[in-house]
Amino acid sequence: MTELIEPLKTPTAEPGTGMVQPGMSVSRVDGRAKVTGAARYAAEHPAADLAYGVVVNSTITKGRILGFDLADALRVPGVIDIITHSNRPRMRPFKLSYKDMTAPGGFPFRPLYDDVVFYSGQPIALVLAETFEAARHAATLVRPDYAVEPHETELAAHLHRAHDPHGLKAGFAPPPKEKGHAQAAFDAAPVKIEAEFHSGVEHHNPMELFASTVIREADGHLTIYDKTQSSQNSRWYVSHVFGLSSRKVTVRNPYVGGAFGSGLRPQYQLPLAVMAALKLKRSVRVVLTRQQMFTFGHRPETRQAIKLAAERDGTLVSIQHDAVAETSRREDYTEVVVNWSGQLYACDNIRLSYHLVDLDNYTPIDMRAPGAAHGVHALEIAMDELSYALQMDPLALRLKNYAEIDPTKNLPFSTKALRDCYTQGAARFGWDQRPAAPRSMRKGNEWVGWGMATGTWDAMQMFARASAVLHADGRLVVSSAATDIGTGTYTVMAMIAAASMGLPMERVTFQLGDSTLPVAPIEGGSSHVTTVGSAVEGACEKLQKRLLKLAKALPDSPFAKAKIDEVEFADGTLRLRARPEVRIELPQLLQHAGEARVEVKYLMLPDALKQRKYQRATHSAVFCEVHVDEDFGTVRVTRVVSAIAAGKIISAKTAHSQITGGVVWGISQALHEETLQDHRLGRFMNANFAEYHVAVNADIHDIEVIFVEEDDRVVSRLGAKGVGEIGLVGVAAAVSNAIYHATGRRIRDTPITPDKVI
Ligand code: MOS
Repeated sequence: MTELIEPLKTPTAEPGTGMVQPGMSVSRVDGRAKVTGAARYAAEHPAADLAYGVVVNSTITKGRILGFDLADALRVPGVIDIITHSNRPRMRPFKLSYKDMTAPGGFPFRPLYDDVVFYSGQPIALVLAETFEAARHAATLVRPDYAVEPHETELAAHLHRAHDPHGLKAGFAPPPKEKGHAQAAFDAAPVKIEAEFHSGVEHHNPMELFASTVIREADGHLTIYDKTQSSQNSRWYVSHVFGLSSRKVTVRNPYVGGAFGSGLRPQYQLPLAVMAALKLKRSVRVVLTRQQMFTFGHRPETRQAIKLAAERDGTLVSIQHDAVAETSRREDYTEVVVNWSGQLYACDNIRLSYHLVDLDNYTPIDMRAPGAAHGVHALEIAMDELSYALQMDPLALRLKNYAEIDPTKNLPFSTKALRDCYTQGAARFGWDQRPAAPRSMRKGNEWVGWGMATGTWDAMQMFARASAVLHADGRLVVSSAATDIGTGTYTVMAMIAAASMGLPMERVTFQLGDSTLPVAPIEGGSSHVTTVGSAVEGACEKLQKRLLKLAKALPDSPFAKAKIDEVEFADGTLRLRARPEVRIELPQLLQHAGEARVEVKYLMLPDALKQRKYQRATHSAVFCEVHVDEDFGTVRVTRVVSAIAAGKIISAKTAHSQITGGVVWGISQALHEETLQDHRLGRFMNANFAEYHVAVNADIHDIEVIFVEEDDRVVSRLGAKGVGEIGLVGVAAAVSNAIYHATGRRIRDTPITPDKVI
């Protein structure tokens, strides 16, 4: 079933948008719905007979729940029920097949499963009431009684427990084996640097709070509006955990107000809301508070050590990169961190390692460019340090060691226009005007510095299905259970379909965000365009063949002998390439053929045999200028140029916005973001927007994005490699390197707060 879900609500381009081609700038088709408030998010869908759930979180970090005093909470007028581990509806026992699709190795946490508390802030009860206010008040009156056990949450104190990760998640290869003899080469080299890095915990903090509205239909069917990066992952999880037939659960996420990876796994409000709907036999909504947004996955605290060595002419002879990160006691969250250090520079001796320490924290979760955000950050600061040790320009050092092939895997790159990113970015920035010595530029009370760094991210493709339906009125509806987390999926997919079918954009609707639509992967890894986009184009190509077949069968058809490559779909018509005046409007074609609609389904499978012969990655060169206040140590990032090579850019405007957003994130990573834990309590202490700082408008100055076009037919039939995460990687390193250039202070910890700068 791939008909329109909510025909009038599915965003479609404004009338008059007209014909589009890949690479054009088109305003996002969901823009009007979003700015007028017509777009409904998970917590905003109305339901009759709705009960409101408010979560109670553990105040201890480790131990057991002995019982609850619920008397006062239950006396609050309007309270319906309080669900705890002892009165919850049945859940299936843990089994590997009952995990969410993105779970790493281990046993995922489930709320209210039993009496065990394994992290601070764990949900331990759900208060249900007729109003949100009553539930919220009653939640403050729930009194748990705990048996407290000692906890361990401090990474630095437990490094001796570091272990190899168990059960790597799909898409994350373990570090490659050592190439050459890295330590011996290091020992023998004339120029070397050695440095340690630390990056604190970060929380994603999308603008939209995590929420689930479970609408219980009269027949018991559950229609769930969930904040997630995959409706099908949430559907899978709910039906497996609660033993519900997949036909009895539909999950929708037509609009998602940011996620950055936090929605790659179902979060705990989803099973809690489902549990309540099953127990009460009515519709239920659970919305987390901003504070509760700090009680599930985060970017893990990571410690890194890097050793680089070079000949005097700058030739790298040794790269060693070791990372240790935290994970939970239940799962081994793996983001590998170090692998990109084996890809970025030509070098004969490379040794990489990655270890985990399990702590009494919630399992970390992917956050925008997981692994690379920290790993490439450390490598690119180390490269900067090496450039000063060599008395060489930082950009020249990178060009000197440019990797023409992947040095650890010995594979060619599918495409790699990083050299052009360096040259075009440097030219735009004016890098050749940079004085070599630190502390050589000043403006008033501020030191001024220029820094640069390289970025890289994986160019992934997964598999997806799409359907395409051409209606007799000329509307094209293309569908796949994809997600738009604000990245522009609605827009880019409609562009791909419209361009492929030669239809004006406003006649094309792309449907996403419903678990009943054709299978799509989770919206992650910057892979939606390469994957779903390729499926969309494949479906359109199949539709063209079907339409030509219909045209050939018409009486006295001028297309009777035409082969598919002798016709084209343009200006809303099917026409002969050689004689474009021989044409038929698509609605007319359907009318003559007596069809109300023509539907095709398409399965896009990556060409794995071809892809495995290449290293596939996106690249960037980031240049930035900082102003550092001499007295206060405050840093302003006054100018950033980010040059990106990410294959063909399909939707220029939304891609540009993705990279700009990534740069903002990089500035935020460099200067602001860290969730601090009080290890005596095991609790994150700045779990709010007053104390968890993110870059705001006043922190952001000039950001210029350059796309260096590539055409990568290995990664996708569209030539695209995917944008999004690449915008972040390298930015914080460029900021850090610029601060060194401004002040002579090398800061290897993030965030770079004023106390570290002074
Ligand atoms: Mo992204 S961290 O793959 O949602």
